[in-house]
Amino acid sequence: MRIGFLQYNPVFGDKKGNLERVGEMLSREKNAFIVLPELCFTGYVFQDKKEVETVAEEMVGPTVGYLTPIVRDNNLFLVFGLAEKMGEKLYNSSCLLSPMGETRIYRKAHLFDREKLFFTPGDTGFPVFDVEFDGSRVKVGLLICFDWIFPEPWRILTLKGAQIIAHPANLVFQYCQDAMVTRAIENRVFIITANRAGEERRVEFTGRSQVVGTKGNILIRVGERVEGIWTVECDPGEAKNKMVTEKNDVLSDRREDLYAIEEK
Ligand code: ACM
Repeated sequence: MRIGFLQYNPVFGDKKGNLERVGEMLSREKNAFIVLPELCFTGYVFQDKKEVETVAEEMVGPTVGYLTPIVRDNNLFLVFGLAEKMGEKLYNSSCLLSPMGETRIYRKAHLFDREKLFFTPGDTGFPVFDVEFDGSRVKVGLLICFDWIFPEPWRILTLKGAQIIAHPANLVFQYCQDAMVTRAIENRVFIITANRAGEERRVEFTGRSQVVGTKGNILIRVGERVEGIWTVECDPGEAKNKMVTEKNDVLSDRREDLYAIEEK
């Protein structure tokens, strides 16, 4: 299975222009699972909730409408960040779009900094979705950017069987990319972090999007400012093997009997 990411520097508020640029990049790819950054068509550094409202849309809206023929014609699975409007609420969401035009959603659980002023914390929990790729079924989990600092959702997705975790991001700290190596090792999953590049309203993003393998091996890591799509061949079946040595399994060796906070 070919997996990878798109890294670029979107123009704040220019949804149409950003979609056209991404659409043009995607039209050169075929038969792949590609992750795009968080809020990748709207931009990220909002001043207030009103500004988010002007660009937010329902999950099945113009963005999905634009991307659907591209994923269908090129047999692509896409994961992309979306400013999602649901009634009065705004969510920082991630959408999984299949070549058949099916959509699945994850709403960011751990909001970062000023996001708390605009977005409602996610209410989807941490779902795992089945992706049918080249005749095999692969389990995919979605997380978004700052979710990285909490080990719990990664472990929960792993316990639910996720083999690949797609991680759209707008990272501002330098150390997430290295932390993802540990998340991959401790859970024995593939992690695709699609970060944005460039600067927006004086906020600098760290780029360095990457794909990490199940043993923490960095399969791809790009530069801070480069733009484009990168992919790598992987065997998602590797993520079913949780053995660290012949006698150690990272899931079944857990000592849940000792993990309670309160002494019995
Ligand atoms: C972040 O969660 N966008 C840092």
